[in-house]
Amino acid sequence: MFAAYQQRSQQRVDAALERLFQAPASDLERLYAAMRYSVINGGKRVRPLLVYAACDALGGDLAQADGAACAVELIHAYSLVHDDLPAMDDDALRRGQPTTHIAFDEACAILAGDALQSLAFEVLGSDAGNPADAALRLRMLATLSRAAGPAGMVGGQAIDLAAVGIKIDQQALERMHRHKTGALIEASVLLGAMASGKASAIQLNTLQHYAQAIGLAFQVQDDILDVESDTATLGKTQGKDEANDKPTYPALLGLDAAKAYALELRDQALAALHDFDERAEPLRQLAEFIVARRS
Ligand code: IPE
Ligand code: IPE
Ligand code: MG
Ligand code: MG
Ligand code: MG
Repeated sequence: MFAAYQQRSQQRVDAALERLFQAPASDLERLYAAMRYSVINGGKRVRPLLVYAACDALGGDLAQADGAACAVELIHAYSLVHDDLPAMDDDALRRGQPTTHIAFDEACAILAGDALQSLAFEVLGSDAGNPADAALRLRMLATLSRAAGPAGMVGGQAIDLAAVGIKIDQQALERMHRHKTGALIEASVLLGAMASGKASAIQLNTLQHYAQAIGLAFQVQDDILDVESDTATLGKTQGKDEANDKPTYPALLGLDAAKAYALELRDQALAALHDFDERAEPLRQLAEFIVARRS
């Protein structure tokens, strides 16, 4: 059942994303090709799924959530393109293909990332695929800006780079993960709920607790998979965290304790949804998926 929901959501967001990469002039073809290459390449689309599932949990119309679903995936794709650059994690493989700076070149990858980021806000700010209420759209833009920027993902990436080779404690590690990965996952849930146009302040608060738990769980599982999966399954080079001397949950707590922590976070997320009805089932299934996934 969840597999079907996942497939429908992926197809829905992929159809909307596909429309964004038509180069308007021949001298922009390479930039648009690099942008497209970085997005249309088989990601799991977990963040768009969270947008749609949160919108569904409140009985919203998914046609108003397409803008947010695209926007979070565009920010995510940009973050991956830059994360893989030689100056950052220096990775050659992403989603089973050469990373953007390898397939194109470094300058092109930097610009493609920049462009994907701007495009995300353009898509979320426009009329199409978003709530008609302009004040609500403005709140959604503010939510995404904060999650993507120095108070969120970019801040987390800075903490990550500063922590290389340094021993940090669990509190510092959690702060890093909540920023670099948690913030965008949290925004995905909030944007989906806001896009429904039906979210009460209490519901948003409850969904935020759910999202914070799965956001952290997502990066804990990412760290676990880097240790115990394989490159073919992951679509990215296994073992890079240890090779790059990154602080991770398995490195700090050991693999078994990291796995137990991921399950504990899943349970926290499920508990937060206690008062939601069966329309929140996809959100519940997503919490299960995030800690059970193998890639
Ligand atoms: C990988 O994210 C990077 C992290 C933030 C942990 P995903 O595991 O969602 O990557 P894709 O989109 O499926 O490739
Ligand atoms: C990435 O974390 C978080 C981002 C904001 C991109 P990682 O560096 O662990 O992601 P992967 O493992 O390369 O996908
Ligand atoms: Mg990284
Ligand atoms: Mg990386
Ligand atoms: Mg990783």
